[in-house]
Amino acid sequence: MREIIYFDNAATSWPKPQETLDAMDHFNRHVGANPGRSGHSLSIDAGRVLMDTREALAELFGIDEMLRIIFTKNATEALNIVTLGLLGPGDHVITSGMEHNSVMRPLRSLEDRRLELDVVRCSASGEIDPRDVEQAIKPHTRAIILTHASNVTGTIMPLSTVGAMARERGIVFCVDASQTAGAIPIDVNEMFIDLLVFTGHKSLYGPQGTGGLYMGPGLEKQIKPLIMGGTGSRSEFEHQPEFLPDKFESGTPNAMGIAGLGAGVRFVLDTGVENIHSREMELSARLLGGLLEIPGVTVYGGGDAQRRTPVVSFVVSGMSPSETALLLDEDFGIMSRPGLHCSPSAHHTIGTFPEGTVRFSIGYFTTPWEIDYALNAVEQLASRQEEGALA
Ligand code: ALA
Repeated sequence: MREIIYFDNAATSWPKPQETLDAMDHFNRHVGANPGRSGHSLSIDAGRVLMDTREALAELFGIDEMLRIIFTKNATEALNIVTLGLLGPGDHVITSGMEHNSVMRPLRSLEDRRLELDVVRCSASGEIDPRDVEQAIKPHTRAIILTHASNVTGTIMPLSTVGAMARERGIVFCVDASQTAGAIPIDVNEMFIDLLVFTGHKSLYGPQGTGGLYMGPGLEKQIKPLIMGGTGSRSEFEHQPEFLPDKFESGTPNAMGIAGLGAGVRFVLDTGVENIHSREMELSARLLGGLLEIPGVTVYGGGDAQRRTPVVSFVVSGMSPSETALLLDEDFGIMSRPGLHCSPSAHHTIGTFPEGTVRFSIGYFTTPWEIDYALNAVEQLASRQEEGALA
């Protein structure tokens, strides 16, 4: 079997820790029932799995009331609950020029219904100036929605500064932590976060099909659910329950996935987010430094690995990103993601629209050897390209 170098952790982390795989296997073999529905002992065991996962997430994000954590199938669904459930005609919303389409598309759809949207410009390396956010604030600004880190350049946003600004003015502060939850310390209280969106299958090491939303006090009264239906609670009523998390958790949940997510979050807590972060920063500095030295390679985002997640976007001169990624896969077994990464706005900002970039996204399980191997592969492609141009 050929060697696989997996550099696509920003799309989904892989491999998963053994604990995640074991928890899902255990759920399927020994629990299996529908949580919160039937009242028999297996159903109670399944409900406990959900509660254990909520408890682990609450510990990770400094959340005081774990029932404020709502499970969704991914971060996209959580962002749709926020945007479509909270915002409406006449509201003003601020976001950044580095957002993913899971933020931009629901917001753009609301513009058709008289939502006023300000997209704050970022620098060519993807950085936002909090003063520009402050200047965009209007008397009717309802929410600021900001990614914690770009999925294209890895640039980390100044959450606490923007959060404090929003809190002072009573503006809802929503953070998309898809790229950072589990990889960078997050504390919803210290960062003034009212709504925290996370995905389960990236740095929380859960399976695909898991994600969620933390909803700060009182917001459950302002946000309409996206989906309504059976919750296993208050079954005598034909109206959706108003309490958390049931208001936003209708239908049978992905309990097996949530079991895996819980084990992934426990893995993060046991390893320590700081330890994960410093290992990833060390690997990232090696990758970034190496790519910056290869002639014919342009690297995007800031040059300081400490101010970004381990995501590096680059282009090999004279070669399209999709061709580069294909050769990396076919000739070297390296899995990367080329193109626009569902973030056209970020590529407009860094000047790589419409072709995009090749994105290497490494993770906790990446080894220094894999990084050196990938650097060598990119160097070979760049020099092949240069020789071809000279011939
Ligand atoms: N949003 C994911 C990515 O950046 C899928 O690749």
